[in-house]
Amino acid sequence: MKKGIIVSFEGIDGCGKTTLVRKFYNYLKSQNLPVIILHEPGGTLIGEKIRKLLLSKNLNITKFCELFLYLASRVQLVEEKIKKNLEEGKIIILDRYIDSTYAYQGYGRRIPLVFIEKVHQLVIGKKFFPDITFLIDEKPENLVEILKRKGKDRIEKESIEFQKKVRNGYLQLVKKNKKIKIIKRQNEQDTFSKVLELWEQFINENRRNKKFIIKIKGKK
Ligand code: TYD
Repeated sequence: MKKGIIVSFEGIDGCGKTTLVRKFYNYLKSQNLPVIILHEPGGTLIGEKIRKLLLSKNLNITKFCELFLYLASRVQLVEEKIKKNLEEGKIIILDRYIDSTYAYQGYGRRIPLVFIEKVHQLVIGKKFFPDITFLIDEKPENLVEILKRKGKDRIEKESIEFQKKVRNGYLQLVKKNKKIKIIKRQNEQDTFSKVLELWEQFINENRRNKKFIIKIKGKK
């Protein structure tokens, strides 16, 4: 079976993931590689409706309802977009994916990780787990100003204590999963250089791996 690559970007709210995703996409495009960006929650018609619900400011959503809505959006995205693009051999860049659920609903809301893990294994399947994840790490205290400027949504309105739990969750995940590469947030250019460095490493490690069909050029 043809196989593309799933690359996800993760981090707490306001860490600058979305800008990096855009830069990384432009970089891969400039190398003439087949690439697509998807974001979560959302990315499909149904997913975008779920996204509106999830991010509405004044809704009192219970933690399990929240979990299942994120999962519902994800399943739809996998079925509609990820499967097809992966089979076509594309590099799929995801602005948030499975690890957001571990970090926010697992570590943040204290839903047992084993439960979240099980649902992902059963409903999504390991084949669609990320091949590499970039975690942009920053202390929530340093992002308060950015979030104020952005105009907060429901989750971003959570206390700094919640964001600390989420960050700590991400740091725990790094210890358990070698595919997650941690990147300390610096200025945009330096953070992006680090993304490229880790990407090159990943490519070199997998150059002879038949799993990926994409012929990726290394640094010239
Ligand atoms: P969004 O504005 O897309 O995030 P970003 O800060 O990356 O621009 O909002 C997504 C929000 O949803 C964000 O606060 C994290 C949260 N989230 C979860 O709690 N669980 C999940 O599984 C996902 C995908 C996102």
